[in-house]
Amino acid sequence: MAKAFSVKDLRFKYPSAAEDTIKGINFDVEEGEIFGLLGPSGAGKSTTQKILVKLLADYRGSVKYFGQDLKALGPAFYEEIGVGFEMPVHFSKLTALENMEFFAGFYKRTADIQELMERVGLWEHRHRKVGEFSKGMKVRLNFVRALLNRPRVLFLDEPTNGLDPKNARILKDMIAEYRKQGGTVFLTTHLMNDVEQLCDRVAFCVAGQLVEISAPRDLKLKYGKREVKVEYRTNGTLASAVFPLDGIGFNEDFGRLLQTQQVETIHSGETSLEEIFIIVTGVELDEHADPVD
Ligand SMILES: Nc1ncnc2c1ncn2[C@@H]1O[C@H](COP(=O)(O)OP(=O)(O)OP(=O)(O)O)[C@@H](O)[C@H]1O
Ligand SMILES: [Mg+2]
Repeated sequence: MAKAFSVKDLRFKYPSAAEDTIKGINFDVEEGEIFGLLGPSGAGKSTTQKILVKLLADYRGSVKYFGQDLKALGPAFYEEIGVGFEMPVHFSKLTALENMEFFAGFYKRTADIQELMERVGLWEHRHRKVGEFSKGMKVRLNFVRALLNRPRVLFLDEPTNGLDPKNARILKDMIAEYRKQGGTVFLTTHLMNDVEQLCDRVAFCVAGQLVEISAPRDLKLKYGKREVKVEYRTNGTLASAVFPLDGIGFNEDFGRLLQTQQVETIHSGETSLEEIFIIVTGVELDEHADPVD
């Protein structure tokens, strides 16, 4: 597989900031994968995305896009990428459809706007002004906008923030389908559900540095305990017992418990991504944080 992005010792300082916001990060995004960038608020996730889409130019280090230096790429780069920004940006006096037609006009290659708007449940609202849209409707329209040019690489910054579970599901299904059709996704999020359901690999960003890059499953195994917990009911009260996972098939106590007790749950001890987030970043998750207003 080709590398969609290859990032080496990336550093970036905002002109008004005293020190670097991005402090020397290294990662690759493989073509055809969903790469998640995870981390607490202010860690530098959106800044990293803005660098990769050439919005912030004065970075140090090297960023290659399919082997080419990002700084040397011309406007053709924008034909190839789709970008969903953290804050939806639309013309509030134009209708939803007028907005999409306007943005599609920048591209040589365009997607079927009706099909995309139908998928996210906005086609029936296409003639309404975006200024009248609810937060979730704007988020969905922002997603459609990112797909307008049938991009080769899709950047999504907190794509499901502010969505109800049903609409979040629809977007996640569309992201997974996009990947299945060969697309590459760079996804920024602090929602564990998004990572769990979508990402092939995830990088943890903390204070401008990457502290872990791994497949979600490998992380769960690495940070998890190799043990099995059984909850069972005995004389009407709930009890539990923990057994080592290794050799569990030959563990006589475990076998006896299963045969003689009324078992209610059995769980192996892999850690949830939420716990891993706290271990790795040292920051408690705020699942309700919502930057979209
Ligand atoms: N235009 C700017 N000028 C100066 N500092 C900025 C600017 N934009 C962001 N920062 C700072 O850079 C740091 C990283 O911000 P960034 O938006 O990349 O974080 P994030 O990881 O995306 O956070 P969140 O989860 O809240 O979206 C923060 O300390 C932020 O205050
Ligand atoms: Mg952000």
